[in-house]
Amino acid sequence: MDDVLEDAWARVEEFGRRPGASAIRPLFTADPKRFDRYSHRGAGLLLDMSKTAISDEVREALFDLARAARVEQGRDAMANGEIVNNTERRAALHMALRGGLPGAGAAAHEDALRTLTYMRAFTESVHRGEVRGATNQRFDTVLSIGIGGSDLGPVMVTRALWRAGDPMRPVHLGNVDGHGWETVLPMLDPRRTLVLIGSKTFTTAETMANARLVRAWMEASVGRNGASAHFAALSTNLAACEAFGIAADRVFPFRDWVGGRFSLWSALGLSLALSLGWERFEALLDGAREMDQHFLGAPLEQNLPILLALVEAWHVGGLKIHRRAVLPYDERLRRLPAHLQQLEMESLGKSVRRDGTPTPWSTGPVVFGEPGTSAQHSFMQLVHQGPNPVPVDFILVAKSDHRHDENHRILLANGLAQAAALMVGRDADAVKAEMREAGADEETIARLVPHRVSPGDRPSNTIVMPRLDPQALGSLIALYEHKVFVLGCLWDVNPFDQWGVELGKVLATPILRELTDGRRVPHDSSTSGLLAEIQRLQR
Ligand code: F6P
Repeated sequence: MDDVLEDAWARVEEFGRRPGASAIRPLFTADPKRFDRYSHRGAGLLLDMSKTAISDEVREALFDLARAARVEQGRDAMANGEIVNNTERRAALHMALRGGLPGAGAAAHEDALRTLTYMRAFTESVHRGEVRGATNQRFDTVLSIGIGGSDLGPVMVTRALWRAGDPMRPVHLGNVDGHGWETVLPMLDPRRTLVLIGSKTFTTAETMANARLVRAWMEASVGRNGASAHFAALSTNLAACEAFGIAADRVFPFRDWVGGRFSLWSALGLSLALSLGWERFEALLDGAREMDQHFLGAPLEQNLPILLALVEAWHVGGLKIHRRAVLPYDERLRRLPAHLQQLEMESLGKSVRRDGTPTPWSTGPVVFGEPGTSAQHSFMQLVHQGPNPVPVDFILVAKSDHRHDENHRILLANGLAQAAALMVGRDADAVKAEMREAGADEETIARLVPHRVSPGDRPSNTIVMPRLDPQALGSLIALYEHKVFVLGCLWDVNPFDQWGVELGKVLATPILRELTDGRRVPHDSSTSGLLAEIQRLQR
């Protein structure tokens, strides 16, 4: 297989070295139907990949790459519950959280259904006021403590879907920085606050520190015995939840086959069910299931997650572009780039293949983003005219949920215009003609032309959602989850582990000890110098 995969990559790379490999405009000139041939629908979404430099020949080479990487077989192995996370010897069955699967996936789905039933009963009891706080007041706020995958997904979905009048007010505490706690504190009445501690391992230092902080705050208000009525845990580590003092009937479990960054569909999503209501949480799962079915059933050539991954493979492997921006043209999706940063960079930021040998190719690009149009006024200058191209994912939502039609038209016009401007650019002749038309003198024109030229041929994908509702958002998130899996196959890396973040955690322990009791521990001279400076400033 290695030879086959390396050969397939070599062919993609060879296309990338050809003169004019990154040109997009000629592809549109040659084919008036390019949009029709390079845009695809699935699970209610449209993906337009026509504004990339993928010619028919390159596309064939990319499909060959997908075949060589055995993407479809890998996908089916994941759905069957095989050990696709080879370093941690685990399955990756997040699809089972939202629908039935074959083989071992079927048992996983049954397991997930049991937890979902329990989550639903709890959610509805809280909403009906049957489950109350220690002072017999109804809960109106859900405070979620968690970090990374135990925070970013739920926060992103909450920001996207929560509206005033929804069943409970969501508040999130992720960072261990006490300023985070100080910021949310004024929003909270402990007597009406239900606290969820979300941690797959229930050992993450930041989450446990925040959990202790919040427990002390709660105990100060409702007493030691009363506090337990206000806590629940979402975790795979049931023993640690018990040791923390969480009542057994308040532990919502999930399994080790749910990766942190794929966990918002599991018990970890309880905050979503509580804040948005059960039906909308279920609709989110429905949307993801629809994308799962598309991913599992659509042919390679029309399979949205596979196509999205192949575009990235072309940019990284063919054109050697190691970055990508995500611009959702919907303010409610403002935390989507942060979620995708973790999903993609924690999954694909790897340098060894599944067998531990170095990857002969580049892997996960840097991902960043902000909502449009705001991003247009910050980093998009570099995307238009900087020396290095940055492929963009534009995400457009056709129908808004407000009545400010003009604003929505302006928003959409800008999103479409950015993608078009990146692709068509503006050459020197066009700049000159425009300036002459505006009455500029020849000296000014000569001086400014180089500054005003936009190179064009800058690639982007555009994803169109009908509306930002739970169903469509579920499909969108699952689209990116599966894209990550496909890239794991194409690059032959395990997208489900994250060993790289461990070292920092290990090194933090002696530094913390030194900050606590002042006893010196040997470090590199930079770390020692910085520590000494911080301690001097603290005195
Ligand atoms: O940042 C590393 C990481 O392990 C993530 O993968 C995970 O989502 C996060 O920490 C939080 O972990 P836990 O859910 O176990 O608290």
